[in-house]
Amino acid sequence: MERLGVELHHISKSFEKDGSPVQVLDNLDVRNEAGEFVSFLGPSGCGKTTTLKIIGGLLEPDGGEVIIGNKRVTGPGPDRSIVFQDYALLPWVDVLRNVAFGLELRGVPKGEREEIARTYIQKVKLSGFEHHYPNELSGGMQQRVGLARALAVNPQILLMDEPFASVDEQTRRLFQSDLSDLWQEEQKTVIFITHSMEEAVYLSDRIFVMSARPGRIVEEFVVHLPRPRTAQDIRGSKEFTESVEHLWGVLRELQ
Ligand SMILES: Nc1ncnc2c1ncn2[C@@H]1O[C@H](COP(=O)(O)OP(=O)(O)OP(=O)(O)O)[C@@H](O)[C@H]1O
Ligand SMILES: [Mg+2]
Repeated sequence: MERLGVELHHISKSFEKDGSPVQVLDNLDVRNEAGEFVSFLGPSGCGKTTTLKIIGGLLEPDGGEVIIGNKRVTGPGPDRSIVFQDYALLPWVDVLRNVAFGLELRGVPKGEREEIARTYIQKVKLSGFEHHYPNELSGGMQQRVGLARALAVNPQILLMDEPFASVDEQTRRLFQSDLSDLWQEEQKTVIFITHSMEEAVYLSDRIFVMSARPGRIVEEFVVHLPRPRTAQDIRGSKEFTESVEHLWGVLRELQ
């Protein structure tokens, strides 16, 4: 499969607030190489979700453009899947059908799409839960369903908006290490949004730190940890601790 990178060229975006425009993004210029895992880290309200929606084609920028594989993004497309913080599952259908849903929309026949869905349900470690409904699952499990659904359509680019924000720390750590393994296996281009410096360092090849509104990139940080990464090897390492400390220094300056 062709691998695609993502380029943001001079993206700016304002929203109306009480009748006057508030600038959320100011001249954002970022390049994500094909197969690279990048994170955006920044204070609440700096425009991370807005950026992801613009890349996903769900929102139009006021200025600038998003380029994927030499083409300008004008809307959502099969090259990109989004994993939202709030899972966005269909409550009235079971796990199997939720995971197969994107394939169903694309007209993939039932037998084939269910086979693909079962493969991804296994990859996110939910085998045995195929016929459970979302409200019968914990938040962490629902997020795994969201990830399986996003991967099942085999997008070149995976966009993730704080996927672990609503789960407890233990679940979060397990999920992080599973995501790291999945990335190693699939080598997708990933754009990942997080508030967590540790999470960003553990998962990413590069981290973009954004300033508070209007959001600009104030730092591009390259993570030099070797891959594949296992939590035990990484979290105790000097490079990990120093990277987190460095990012904290940058974020503290922004306060
Ligand atoms: N549709 C909208 N209409 C008006 N204002 C909006 C809209 N979407 C976002 N905003 C504003 O734009 C700013 C950036 O929002 P955004 O959701 O991108 O931030 P964020 O970095 O994802 O924050 P968080 O870390 O809290 O998720 C916020 O001030 C928000 O209130
Ligand atoms: Mg957000």
